[in-house]
Formats: sequence, structure tokens, C-alpha cells
Amino acid sequence: MWKGRFSQDTNDRVLDFTQSLDLDWRMAQADIRGSIAHVRMLALVGLLTAEESREIEENLEAISEEIKNGDFEPTRELEDVHMNIEARLIERCGATGAKLHMGRSRNDQANTTVRLYLRQELLSVWCGLDALISVLLEKAAQHADTVVPGYTHLQQAQPVSMGQFWMAHAQAFLRDTKRFFDAYEAVDESPLGCAALAGSTLPLDREYTRRDLGFSKMTANSMDTVAHRDHILDVLYFASVFGAHVSRLSEDLIVYFSSEFGWVKLPDAFCTGSSIMPQKKNPDVLEILRGKSGQLTGALMDLLVMTKGIPLTYNRDLQDDKRSLFRTLDCLHGIFSVLPALLKEVEIDEEAALRGFSDGLILATDVAEYLVMQGVPFRNAHEKVGKIVRYCLDNKKSLTALSLDEWQNHIPEVKADLLPLLSPKVAVERRNTAGGTSPEQVRKQIASAAAKMEQYRQEAKAYEESLPGLY
Ligand code: ARG
Repeated sequence: MWKGRFSQDTNDRVLDFTQSLDLDWRMAQADIRGSIAHVRMLALVGLLTAEESREIEENLEAISEEIKNGDFEPTRELEDVHMNIEARLIERCGATGAKLHMGRSRNDQANTTVRLYLRQELLSVWCGLDALISVLLEKAAQHADTVVPGYTHLQQAQPVSMGQFWMAHAQAFLRDTKRFFDAYEAVDESPLGCAALAGSTLPLDREYTRRDLGFSKMTANSMDTVAHRDHILDVLYFASVFGAHVSRLSEDLIVYFSSEFGWVKLPDAFCTGSSIMPQKKNPDVLEILRGKSGQLTGALMDLLVMTKGIPLTYNRDLQDDKRSLFRTLDCLHGIFSVLPALLKEVEIDEEAALRGFSDGLILATDVAEYLVMQGVPFRNAHEKVGKIVRYCLDNKKSLTALSLDEWQNHIPEVKADLLPLLSPKVAVERRNTAGGTSPEQVRKQIASAAAKMEQYRQEAKAYEESLPGLY
């Protein structure tokens, strides 16, 4: 395509090394849709006749069909998806086809294609987020009254509602959803018409192509547009933080599922066995999910480092942006294909969870706070309860099995009304501060999270309706 200026053919190894077809062919339909908007605009401003524009559009549609039917074999010699489709167009409609690329560079074209493709892909990522968060809200409602140990430093800390546990993870994914929509907004800008770097001497109508392609905005500066990949970084950053959250949720469940904790039950269909140990039921799916965070963060690091120090404007380094992006999209699709379905079937063995409370020590804070309500300064209360914990440990007694006399021997401020407070269930119910673990607070959280999700659904629906058809 640039043979005019050159006296040698491109070296075969260079062809192989520089081609991006193996990465970008998956965006073929999006690329065609971008070209259709471009030719429609060229006709509108008088650079093509209506007839030429129609001929190109019809041939592009025919090429789109060839691709869908598997009748189009792209070649690496043509470097990328863009050149393959343009070459095929010229093959089909000669001189008219050769007019397609006027006023356009692959720099704004590739940018447009990625954004068109990515908007569609992001809407399916949204469906995954919706499914995931919806399952968590269901589980939280189902387990609002289920009491389990809460941990800090992976040491038993205070009893919590399992609903609060599910909502803790849901809140993280809700923050991810906010980051996700911010990234979507960054992707949803039309670069078409920025051409190679400076715009065009031709009277292009960028507003027309923006509207035709259903982008919310037009990018503001032609040099900036072809030079940056911030919108892709935004997607990769969202995915990296999301991956860390998936990793933490997976690890929590793996730990609670182990025989030593033993109060989470995983569905057989989402576990695997051992080739040698017949008794084993392994949480492999969760382990793979836990590991995905590495790929997601790796992709972000790849593009972050790659874009550092690239001078304005387009440089070929940028072609590899798609490697990070597609790796991330594939990884996200994989996560969403199993995680919501697995979570749906997680069960809690409350009896086993309560067994972990048998020494009663998890209620020590409740006693200290009881004493605070009796007028004891907190530091003194902490020390008094610490001593009685020591007494329980030394005498192998449970904090919940002490008689009123024993309590009063150690702490004269204790009255009979302490004893009914010393149950995990009551302890959870009494933590009724805003955002606390009481079932009442958990239900409030679920309701406001559900309302937030409804807003996000409306937002996603509006985005979906603004997408053009045809790919
Ligand atoms: N395949 C290239 C990409 O994805 C197309 C852009 C090539 N532009 C150029 N000036 N060589 O970025």
C-alpha cells in the first residue's frame, strides 16, 4: 500500500513481526461499521457521489457476510484487519473502493474500530457484573440472619452476619461498577476524522460520523487522540481492581471451605477431585479465579509501561495495546462464566460455623462495651475483660459458660443482665450502627445496593440503545 516510495519489498520477517492481524481480526465487523459511517459522511460532504457511497456500503456489507460465513481468508501480508478489508473492497469494486480511505488514516481508523468493538464487549462485561452483584445481593438476603465468625488477621474477631460478608464483597464490586462506567465513558468518544495526527484538508464532518456511530462525544484534539490509550488503561485498571476483589472473595471461600474452618459448602459441580486421593474435593475453580488477578494486573502493567515515554503522536508501539486489552476481556469473560453460578450454590453450615464460637472468646468486645455502658472507662474495661479471658484460657472455660458469681468475682460491675447478651446471635443483632452487621443494617444495605444496581441498569440500557447495529 505504500509501494510508491519504496524500492525494496518488505522483508518477510518484518511482515511477520509487524503484522497485527492475529490480534485485530476479531474486530472485523466493527471495522466495517466504522468504514460505513466514513463513506456516508464522505457522500454528505460531496467527496463521494451518492451512488459511489452506496456501492461502497453495499460491498462492505457483502464483505461483512463473507466474514460471517467464513468465506474471507485474511492474509498477514496485508498487515492488519483494516488493510485486509480495504484490499477486499478494492478487489470487489475497483476505483470506487479505492476512494474509501480518503480523509482517513489507520491511526484514527484503528482507534475508532477498537472503541466500537470495545463498547459492545463492555456491555457484556456489564452483564457479568450485574449477574455477579445480583447473586451476592440474593445470598446476602438469604443469609442475613446466619451468624458466622468474622476475622481480622484471620483470627476470630467478632461474630458477623453472613449477609454482611456477602455485602462486603458486593460493595467492592459496586465500586468496580462505578469504575467500569467511568471507563465506558472514556471509551465512548469518536476519534474518526482526526486522520493521521492533524485532521484533514478535506471538509470532513466529524459530528456526522460521531452520531452515525452512536458515540456520546467527539475527541477534542487530533494529536492527543491518535497518541494516547488512556481509555484502554481505564478499562484495564477497572479490571485489575476487580480481579483483586475476585481474588479476595475466592480466597475467603477457599479458606472457609477447608476442613479446618469447614463452614462453607461448595457445590460438587464447581469442584474437582484428585487423581490419587479418593477423598479429595478441591476448590480448583476458586483457585483459578484467585489466580486471574495476575493476568489482569499484568495486562495493565504491560500497557502502562509500554505507553510511557512514547512521543506525540502515533507510534507503532501502540499497536500492541490490543494484546493487553483482549487478554483482559477474555479473562473477564472467563471469570463471569463461572463465578456467579458458583456463588449461587454456596451454602453455609451454620452449626459448624457456631462450633468455632465454643470458647465464647469472640464475645469479649461485647463484655467490654457492656462495661462501658456501666460507666467503666474503655481502657479499664478492656483490661478487666482481658483478665477474665486469661482466666478462661487457664481453666479451659468458655466465656459464655461462666456463672454470675464467677463474673462478679472478677468484675464487680457485671450484673445479671450481661448473661443474655452473651450469644453470637444477640451480639450480631446488637451491632446496629449504620453499616454494621445487624440483620437490620444488612437489609438496609441490600436495599440501597439494589437501587444503585437499578440505576446502573438504566445507564447500561441507554448505552446499549445508542449503539449502531450491523456487527
Ligand atoms: N495495525 C496498526 C494498529 O493497530 C494500524 C496503524 C498503523 N499505522 C501506522 N501509522 N503505521 O495500530
